[in-house]
Amino acid sequence: MSEPILRLNGVEQIYRSRNANGPGWNQVRAVDGVDLDIREGETLAIVGESGSGKSTLAKLLLLLNRPTTGEVQFRGTSLSALASADYQAFRRQVQAVFQDPASSLNPRMTVERMLGYIVQRHALATPGETRQFLAGHLAAVGLNPPESYLERYPHQLSGGQQQRIAIARAMMLRPAIIIADEPLSSLDVSVQAQVLQLMRDLHKTTNVGFVVISHDLGAMESIADRTAVMYRGRIVEIGRSIYERPYHPYTKLLLDARLSLDPRRSRIRSMSAAPSRSDSSAPAQGGCRFRPRCAYAVEICATQAPALKPVDQAGTMAACHRAEEIGALRARSAEPTVPSPLEV
Ligand SMILES: Nc1ncnc2c1ncn2[C@@H]1O[C@H](COP(=O)(O)OP(=O)(O)OP(=O)(O)O)[C@@H](O)[C@H]1O
Ligand code: SF4
Ligand SMILES: [Mg+2]
Repeated sequence: MSEPILRLNGVEQIYRSRNANGPGWNQVRAVDGVDLDIREGETLAIVGESGSGKSTLAKLLLLLNRPTTGEVQFRGTSLSALASADYQAFRRQVQAVFQDPASSLNPRMTVERMLGYIVQRHALATPGETRQFLAGHLAAVGLNPPESYLERYPHQLSGGQQQRIAIARAMMLRPAIIIADEPLSSLDVSVQAQVLQLMRDLHKTTNVGFVVISHDLGAMESIADRTAVMYRGRIVEIGRSIYERPYHPYTKLLLDARLSLDPRRSRIRSMSAAPSRSDSSAPAQGGCRFRPRCAYAVEICATQAPALKPVDQAGTMAACHRAEEIGALRARSAEPTVPSPLEV
């Protein structure tokens, strides 16, 4: 197994903000005890409903946030202890692509000036070779002929073209991994498919890894090597085959929502039919935090929080007291039919 590029060890992120309605502070546990290895060349999808802590996790991986407790490591060294040279390596090797490409591009600069500045800063090419260097990178993200894009300002580009520029900017530094927080959600559906294909192609040709955050399970199924499912700050399931063989009832709920015939309900964000406990600011109670929504809950679920643990030979891990039982019963029948206390 390849060495992890990034590792989270027991990471917690607590946000504190002043209480708007009185004295004191509000506390939100956005990420709550996450352990995660991100390996060389893998595409890891992170899914989960709104407020589950996905963007906070991305910020921790990019060192935009420092964890309240726990540790983020880059190639085996804690980010808080990186020496200057390793910090430079981290900044080059771990790149970001964000949801809204327009806001991540400087509106007052042409593409050539904006990207040329990075080329000079990191000495990626000599001044005489910069234009050719940039043209090569724009062509690699499907912007052809590249020279015609170099002259343009961001407002002269479509959303898909802007996102390609953002990806080209990240790729110029030859990153080991790109952390992409909802890179598709501001794009039209047809453009989403093109950007997904671009990510696949870049992965194939350069072995760059991706951590992709998305509400779109269909898109993630088509691109991810592994998928982590987050619920209220925790990873409740992670594995390669969660789309075909979900072990956690929450994963199954997300997949069922995706299968809804109503396209407006095909995204996790709109899963309002189930009673929602997605707000991480809700007080943590003993036991499993998915219990109020879970049709499979039994007595132990009320008192013991389930740990994330291996549930099959394929390396899937799930945080559910009944995960193996759910998996075993599903294997015997096409439809998961674990007897639920609510059905008895
Ligand atoms: N800067 C902040 N200060 C206080 N609370 C915050 C801050 N940023 C996020 N939160 C809270 O932390 C929790 C997790 O937020 P986060 O943005 O990580 O979720 P998310 O899974 O990315 O959601 P979405 O899918 O809507 O983007 C939420 O309850 C959110 O309100
Ligand atoms: S631990 Fe219990 S409540 Fe939590 S998901 Fe599993 S069965 Fe449901
Ligand atoms: Mg987010």
